[in-house]
Amino acid sequence: MSDFEPFYDVNLSYDDNYAKGPFGAFAAALAADAGETGAGAGAAGAAAVDETAVDFLGHKVNLPFGIPAGPLLNERFTTAAFRAGFDLATYKTVRSRAWGCNPFPNVLAVHPQSADGSLIPGSAELDEGVLADTRYEQPISISNSFGVPSRDPDEWQPDMKRAIEAAGPGQLLIPSFQGSRVEGMTTDDYIADHVATARLVTETGADLMVMNTSCPNEGHNRLLCHDPALVGRITEAVKNEIGDRALAIKLAYIPPTEVTGGWGPERTIVDDSALEFMVRETAARGTVQAFSAINTISARLVDANGEQALPGAGRDRSGVCGRAIRRAGLDMVARLAAIREKLDLDYTIVGLGGVVSPEDYAAYRAAGADAVMSATGAMWDADLARKIKAAR
Ligand SMILES: Cc1cc2nc3c(=O)[nH]c(=O)nc-3n(C[C@H](O)[C@H](O)[C@H](O)COP(=O)(O)O)c2cc1C
Repeated sequence: MSDFEPFYDVNLSYDDNYAKGPFGAFAAALAADAGETGAGAGAAGAAAVDETAVDFLGHKVNLPFGIPAGPLLNERFTTAAFRAGFDLATYKTVRSRAWGCNPFPNVLAVHPQSADGSLIPGSAELDEGVLADTRYEQPISISNSFGVPSRDPDEWQPDMKRAIEAAGPGQLLIPSFQGSRVEGMTTDDYIADHVATARLVTETGADLMVMNTSCPNEGHNRLLCHDPALVGRITEAVKNEIGDRALAIKLAYIPPTEVTGGWGPERTIVDDSALEFMVRETAARGTVQAFSAINTISARLVDANGEQALPGAGRDRSGVCGRAIRRAGLDMVARLAAIREKLDLDYTIVGLGGVVSPEDYAAYRAAGADAVMSATGAMWDADLARKIKAAR
């Protein structure tokens, strides 16, 4: 990693990244922006929406490609992403209250054993241990362990408002939020926290948002998206609050209920009722307009001696992202597309997981994604959006 600097510096704490980032090419994009327009002058760059722009949840977007929730910590990061040509920029998941970050380090490189570097959902390797260290190699796979930190709404609301306003023509800021489960909360309290957070997001001027149901770093035994009936109740309550604004939900990998043929090309899905149930509880009821899939895949991380790689209690497992989860992401997208057709619905699919090249973007579009995003791949290649545009 000698001459290249990711826009999120994995060698610094989250707070230092928040205060001093973005770095590398994104810092340069902001500096160029300030030079051209005067600092804080808002949307810069292209004067008009591209002729080839497409509709994305009611908005014209130049290229339906961008960065999902996580690495864009605040308005400076999202604005830099816009200026670097990422036309969809997701503002990091926010909460109804300030929430601390897991201890440093928060990112490690991971090295799966399979020949193509994939981690297969349900495979023994995920429980036996995947090597994790600080050797960052392309195509990049990492683990991230943050615990979904959030600033207080008094801080993130005005910042998110600025982020929305900084989008250029044909660009769109997508806020991300999630509920916060705290000691003593009833299920109704938990649903109400989602609704309150969605309301705080609407107050920034947002007219769409993505709700995270899938963070494995919050206690990895059970994710919200493993309880589709509860997701159905929450999204109904949130949709009642946000009205006509589009609601997307972010899903983790949900395995097919029954398959034959393992993970090879000969695989046949006999029964996909678990994922279909999620769709029936949400999009089929009109409460959800888009699915964003996938989030990270939880794996036990070990160092070269087989010891726990991330320090501290409860961090023996962590979410893996980047190239290792590309096959799983493509699989989820293809299945969401098949269910969309089967149920004759028209929800939008945002595909992500391991996108590091124009070929990956094309593969996700071919699998049925209406838009594609990259977190890890974009962190390690700030030119990824420009490369995809050049390859069109
Ligand atoms: C540094 C980092 C932080 C992340 N934080 C969040 C988050 O706050 N909310 C969320 O929904 N997903 C979060 N994610 C997950 C990504 O949005 C994405 O689902 C995952 O990384 C897979 O995409 P990728 O392979 O392109 O990285 C984060 C990912 C990274 C790399």
